[in-house]
Amino acid sequence: AVQRATNVVFQQNHVSRDKRGKVIGNKGGFSGCTVWLTGLSGAGKTTISFALEEYLVSQGIPAYSLDGDNVRTGLNKNLGFTPEDREENIRRISEVAKLFSDGGIVCITAFISPYEKDREKARELHEEAGLKFVECYVDTPIEVCEQRDVKGLYKKARAGQIKGFTGVDQAYEPPPSPECVLKASELDVDECVEKIVQHLVKIGVVP
Ligand code: PPS
Ligand code: ADP
Ligand code: MG
Repeated sequence: AVQRATNVVFQQNHVSRDKRGKVIGNKGGFSGCTVWLTGLSGAGKTTISFALEEYLVSQGIPAYSLDGDNVRTGLNKNLGFTPEDREENIRRISEVAKLFSDGGIVCITAFISPYEKDREKARELHEEAGLKFVECYVDTPIEVCEQRDVKGLYKKARAGQIKGFTGVDQAYEPPPSPECVLKASELDVDECVEKIVQHLVKIGVVP
C-alpha cells in the first residue's frame, strides 16, 4: 500500500506576498501568477512560452517557464502518457506552478494538458490561494501541427511507433472558456505574446 502523509499541519510563512514582491524584480509589486498554455503537440506552446518569458524578464518582471519535455526528464520522469499519468503530470505541475506564483514569479506552463477537468483543478488550486490563473489555448489545427512536425512525432504516431499520441489516438479536450485564444497558425509568435501581455496588463500583472 502507498504510504500517505498523516499528522501534517500547514506552516504559515512570515514573509507576505507584498513584502516578497517588493524585493523581487524591478517593478516593486507582487506579480506572481500562472500563465497556463494548453494545446496539441506542435501547436506552439514552447515557442510562445519562451518568448513570453524573455519579454517579461526584459521588462523587469520575474518569469519562469516550465516545459513538458523538460519536466518529464526530471521531476516527472517516472510518468508516461496514459491518461492516468497525464493527470498526475498535470497535478504535480499545478502544484509547482502554484509555488512559483506564490513566490512572486510569473510561472508559464507549456504542457499539452489535454483534459479539461485537470486544467480546472489547476485553476481552482490557484484561485483558492488568491493567485491569478490565465488559461491560454494555443489553438492550432492538427493539420498545421502535423505539417510542422517539429520533432517527427506525428510521423511516428501515424506509423504506429508511438501509441496514445494526443490528437492521433488519444483525446485533446479544448478549453471551453480560456482567458486567451491564440491562433498560432494565423498570428506570428510576437502577436501571440502580445495578446497574452495585453491580458496581463488588464489584470494588473504587467504595469
Ligand atoms: S501532457 O499530456 O500534458 O501530460 O503532456 P506533456 O507533459 O506536455 O508532454 C508532451 C511532450 O511529450 C512528447 N510526447 C508526447 N506528446 C503527446 N502524446 C504522446 N504520446 C507523446 N509522447 C511523447 C512531446 O514532445 C510533447 O511535447 P510538445 O511540446 O507538446 O510537442
Ligand atoms: P509545442 O511546444 O506546442 O509542441 P513548439 O513551440 O515546439 O510547439 O513548435 C511550434 C512550431 O511552430 C515552431 O517551429 C514555431 O517556430 C512554429 N510557429 C509558427 N508560428 C508560431 C506561432 N504563432 N506561435 C508559436 N509557434 C509558431
Ligand atoms: Mg513543447
